[in-house]
Amino acid sequence: MSSDIRHEKLKKWVQETAQRCQPDEIYWCDGSKAEYDMMMKRSVDAGSAIPVAKRPNSFLFRSDPSDVARVEDRTYISTTNEIDAGPTNNWIDPDELKTIMKGLYAGCMKGRTMYVIPFSMGPVGSPIAKIGIEITDSPYVVCNMHTMTRVGARVLEVLGTHGEFIPCLHSIGAPLETGQKDVPWPCAPMDKKYISHFPEENLIWSYGSGYGGNALLGKKCLALRIASAMARREGWMAEHMLILRLTNPQGKQYHIAAAFPSACGKTNLAMLQPTIEGWKCETIGDDIAWMKIGPDGRVYAINPEAGFFGVAPGTSYESNPMAMESLHENIIFTNCALTDDGDMWWEEMDGDPPAHAIDWKGRDWTPSSKEPAAHPNARFTAPASQCPVICEDWEKPEGVPIDIFIFGGRRAGVVPLVNEAFDWAHGVFLGATASSETTAANIGDIGNLRRDPFAMKPFCGYNMGDYFRHWLEMGERLGDKAPKIFYVNWFRKSPEGKFLWPGFGDNSRVLKWMCERIDGTLGARETPIGLLPKEGELDLSGLDISSENMDELLKVDRDAWRAEIPNLEEHFAQFGERLPGKMREQMDNLKKRLG
Ligand code: OXD
Ligand code: MN
Repeated sequence: MSSDIRHEKLKKWVQETAQRCQPDEIYWCDGSKAEYDMMMKRSVDAGSAIPVAKRPNSFLFRSDPSDVARVEDRTYISTTNEIDAGPTNNWIDPDELKTIMKGLYAGCMKGRTMYVIPFSMGPVGSPIAKIGIEITDSPYVVCNMHTMTRVGARVLEVLGTHGEFIPCLHSIGAPLETGQKDVPWPCAPMDKKYISHFPEENLIWSYGSGYGGNALLGKKCLALRIASAMARREGWMAEHMLILRLTNPQGKQYHIAAAFPSACGKTNLAMLQPTIEGWKCETIGDDIAWMKIGPDGRVYAINPEAGFFGVAPGTSYESNPMAMESLHENIIFTNCALTDDGDMWWEEMDGDPPAHAIDWKGRDWTPSSKEPAAHPNARFTAPASQCPVICEDWEKPEGVPIDIFIFGGRRAGVVPLVNEAFDWAHGVFLGATASSETTAANIGDIGNLRRDPFAMKPFCGYNMGDYFRHWLEMGERLGDKAPKIFYVNWFRKSPEGKFLWPGFGDNSRVLKWMCERIDGTLGARETPIGLLPKEGELDLSGLDISSENMDELLKVDRDAWRAEIPNLEEHFAQFGERLPGKMREQMDNLKKRLG
């Protein structure tokens, strides 16, 4: 295929990379089913994949125990000036970082095949889509990219001879000497892993990890970190948001884009099954939204991905039946447990745990084992088209018009169930101060509170203070066409540690309130932190929930909020001069309102 490549810049980049990395061969991916099957066969033969007997065309991979999640500590935004990466990103000078990484890349693909993956983020040819080319030495990455993006010859056609592409270089960092036996999941040690972004050149270099967002470079690296920097320059938005369509009993459609930190239920909300009569929810995306202002002045969103890379543990018919229904075939499972009858299992799947399974490390597991059978960040890679509630317009090139933005996080206390922003600037403040207790989606402490502005802390490719400014500017451009902004917390707990809100399908009740608010059919109660539902205005029909719990869920405790102020001030202080004046103003207003 390489002789057919008419794009000189692409050809040159591939040749130069091959010279540096020294693979045994170069393979250009065409995105076909035959190619996928061949890659899977290679992976099975090599002992890195196991066919899942109960699910046609599905395979289990077990990663190295040291390579199980995104590595935020080893992720870099490399800009000429450190201040442009900002306080929430790791920074190394681009020349220095490139020198280190060129050293690592030298000969790193010896004994392996270098795969060249042309892919489109967004429907091929959509005005919002972007083309990337990933070079990798991992067959696992090739297969995942097939599902998560649109790969193949069509992409090269659109690229033509001079089209723009984002070069994404990936190596697992595990060359093979002649005769050296491979391991099932080759990767480099932690101190050699680098997930590097050069936003001034739209360039991604990743080394040493084969897992998820570290290696599938279309996702977090391109569609969020690089795209967010491009979006700021070009006047659009790249956000860590699910997209869904809600239809009310009268057939009116509402489109919602919602940002939550990793592993806070974005996939569940995206595939919600409403528990309220006559309302319907359809999925457009579960992780990333790219949005542009359309000819009518409204903001339109596409899902740049083609699949779901979902967290498996916690996914069940109870929490997310539509995800479960998407997983019957053509799935890549990573770090899940294998049952004796050849099926997958993970913690909190429906029913009793199996009496025996093989855990994610390949060891015997029984319910009395001390460690979980699946890694807490075990994943499924599923084609979005397999989701029974995928929206018929999910691949519409121009996207869907957004009515509502939601921010949120996982907070056991303080933050109420739902809260509407007074206006756009206040909504930006809610996004900018979003907080969550940390989860297993990234390596680090679990259960600590962290401020995760717009759920973009790990994903913003430039100074977060400038990002807040970009949001404010988008609001100015959108004017009265701007979506309304809300903040939610499904995770509020009682003093005994019990969840107060049932969550899952019942979250539709909260979404309904939002739709009625934007239609102007419901009032709201003004509080120091925003607008909350008036008593009786949240539809609780058919729900067995005590009025004490509801009071607690919708309570604004001034003392508890005042106690948050020092942490908020500290959060904002890190942005120094780059914090927009309007954000300072919002902080002062909040303090005044709290008294
Ligand atoms: C993800 C994440 O995988 O946010 O989506 O970590
Ligand atoms: Mn995510």
